[in-house]
Amino acid sequence: MALATNQDLAGLATSGIRRFTALANQTPGCVKLTLGEPEFDTPAPIRAAVSDSLVRGLTHYPPNNGRPELLCALSAYMGRQGLSYEPGELIVTCGATEALAATLMSLLDPGDEVIVSTPAFGLYETIVRAAHGIVRSLDTSASGFQIAADALEAAIGPRTKAIVITSPNNPTGCVYDRSSLDAVAGAQTRHGLFVVCDDVYNRLAYTRGYERFAQVHPECRDHTVVVDSFSKPWAMTGWRLGWLAADAPLKTQIEKMHQYLVSSVPAFVQDAAAVALSCDIEPMRQTYERRREQVCAALADMGLPLVRPAGAFYAFPSIEGLGVGSEEFCERAIREGGVALVPGTCFGAEGYVRLSYCVSDEELTLGLDRLAKFVRGISDR
Ligand SMILES: Cc1ncc(COP(=O)(O)O)c(C=O)c1O
Repeated sequence: MALATNQDLAGLATSGIRRFTALANQTPGCVKLTLGEPEFDTPAPIRAAVSDSLVRGLTHYPPNNGRPELLCALSAYMGRQGLSYEPGELIVTCGATEALAATLMSLLDPGDEVIVSTPAFGLYETIVRAAHGIVRSLDTSASGFQIAADALEAAIGPRTKAIVITSPNNPTGCVYDRSSLDAVAGAQTRHGLFVVCDDVYNRLAYTRGYERFAQVHPECRDHTVVVDSFSKPWAMTGWRLGWLAADAPLKTQIEKMHQYLVSSVPAFVQDAAAVALSCDIEPMRQTYERRREQVCAALADMGLPLVRPAGAFYAFPSIEGLGVGSEEFCERAIREGGVALVPGTCFGAEGYVRLSYCVSDEELTLGLDRLAKFVRGISDR
């Protein structure tokens, strides 16, 4: 008898972002504007701290939630950002990916629903489905990628357990305004939902008005989980390091999942992570901000409507007016135009494409030129 694998996962495709990157890799000379991976190397002082830790013999199992020195440094760092969490309310994780998995797996019973505002990063749906939960998409495309209180209320049902919010957002680059954050807080208070804040791009915001949910709605603290990561701001994607913060009783539930999923993150990277927290990332942030201007101007010249991104390193223009689906657009852009983007379908939003601008200036300029030519070719047909 052949037994089946987890049927809630069976219908899921592998990461669309990786699929289109692989297609681009098969096309010689293609410019890849697909990955959310900074082109910078991790700053040297952070890298140097790892060698030092190895020399000091930090090669044994560390405490499950992280070395005390790192937990204290993270608590102080969050305090400087206006978020008050004790070291004992933090867990150091294998990237935001594991933080999100441990969180959602500890929150959900089979059949529970999680609201995900779309367009959204695909990871949330995979985790929720693996945990036998159900994703309810909250389409934000009609409200400039902001969360409308009435739409959110309408999406909540008797089995709704949590909402995931991402600001700055992947793929739109948008940051939630105060009224979106208030809408989430109102729903949290009325229905007792858990709010999972995927804040991995919080250091890459380009607007003065940027506010974080946990900062402006401390009254929701006992039901809020803040997820953060070293990957994007410090160009540390390959280190697989992140963390989460939650009110002590909630964190105690999540730490069980963390302990049995991964036990802990490697010991000898944790002092380096503490070094990262005081490392100046402003030059990298300013580079992305400058590129954002270049991308917005280029997309406007191409006539592609865009909600102006306010953070992260993505733009999510509409291609609806071109009369082709986003998958066909991206396949043809690779084959005919020599430039790779990710179709909106990978983020639950047909009619859009995601462009990443965390590539070198030269590649970005070449990629935008090629995209302009490709779009002109489609419009002229
Ligand atoms: C919104 C969002 N959350 C989480 C992650 C995962 O980050 P990490 O590398 O820390 O696992 C990513 C990575 O692209 C992301 O874009």
